[in-house]
Amino acid sequence: MEETGISREEILSILKNAKSADTRYERVLSSMCTYPHEIAVLAHTQFIEANMGDPGLFPGTYHLEKQVLKMFGSLLHHKNNPENCGYLTTGGTESNIQAIRSMVNGRRDIKNPNVVMPESAHFSFDKVADLSGVEIRKASLDKTLKVDIDSVRSLINENTIGLVGIAGTTEFGQVDPIEELSEIALEKGLFLHVDAAFGGFVLPFMGVRYRYDFAVEGVTSMTIDPHKMGLSTIPSGGLMFRRSEYLDDLEIHTPYLSISKQYSLTGTRSGAAVASTYAVMRHLGKEGYRRVVGQCMEQTQNIVTGAGEMGIGTVIDPVMNVLALRVPNADDVRKRLLDEFGWHVSITRNPRALRLVVMPHIAGDIVELFLNDLEKLI
Ligand SMILES: Cc1ncc(COP(=O)(O)O)c(C=O)c1O
Repeated sequence: MEETGISREEILSILKNAKSADTRYERVLSSMCTYPHEIAVLAHTQFIEANMGDPGLFPGTYHLEKQVLKMFGSLLHHKNNPENCGYLTTGGTESNIQAIRSMVNGRRDIKNPNVVMPESAHFSFDKVADLSGVEIRKASLDKTLKVDIDSVRSLINENTIGLVGIAGTTEFGQVDPIEELSEIALEKGLFLHVDAAFGGFVLPFMGVRYRYDFAVEGVTSMTIDPHKMGLSTIPSGGLMFRRSEYLDDLEIHTPYLSISKQYSLTGTRSGAAVASTYAVMRHLGKEGYRRVVGQCMEQTQNIVTGAGEMGIGTVIDPVMNVLALRVPNADDVRKRLLDEFGWHVSITRNPRALRLVVMPHIAGDIVELFLNDLEKLI
């Protein structure tokens, strides 16, 4: 750091340059984030100093958080005072870490605990394993890339404390058979966490009704991320438990704050993300999100149709706005799409395919441009 500061104008010019080097989302088909809604940005800037780690100082923001939890509750069929059963996290990673932490803390009687989850689980769970020493056991997937229930059963032993299912897998957008996982969880007295970081703001707004949330009896906790399809600002995540006692398992005594205990993983916590999430959820309502999801699904279908006309199929029929195209030499095509046309796409691991996430910034003309460029490479 320099001894003497520089002017506001110089700073702004440096920031402008840095920003111009960043990628705009218009050619990004690899990310689960997008431009936040304009009302979310407005709310975020108004609450920039609010620290939810010390909520006694920010009762107004704290009240907004309770309202957001009630809205999550209504989306996820949570019947039992949802405002006391969760909190707004920094994103899917924190929510998943905390869900596993609650599992572990609730089963102190098990010395070497393990958690069974699909191979398709997000890498945030590997971080939990690294942090906590809990063993992660990965169950294989069936032909449609949902977790294989027999494989789950075969991995459970006397040290198993919980199961994880995914509602919207990161690579393929697939939804695991949560009802079947729930049956196992109820039968064996296990905690069941559902990671709906992506699907949480997609599945409730689709024409098809999926059973993946608290309406399913054995579901204990859920991750839902407003900063993905919720159109809120980063860092907005959500963690909900069926009952407040699971949140209590995360309780840490906080001697010098305006509150006596804290549940979150981070200490200082963004009130701006709370306000942003509140604003966009109230502003769009279910009707607004249905429109957003409808548009993403329409563009997803347009890509499936366009690719089909080139003889390219999908790995699974897209369940949501994530699709994997069976392109020959997918790694090479991915590189050329970027180098020659500036498209950011990613690759799935097994099978290797071109992975596209069709976020709200992917409008009709963008899809057309993308398909034209893809055709040149096939
Ligand atoms: C299913 C799922 N869970 C968790 C995460 C992690 O979310 P974050 O990057 O917000 O920590 C992701 C991110 O893509 C995800 O797709």
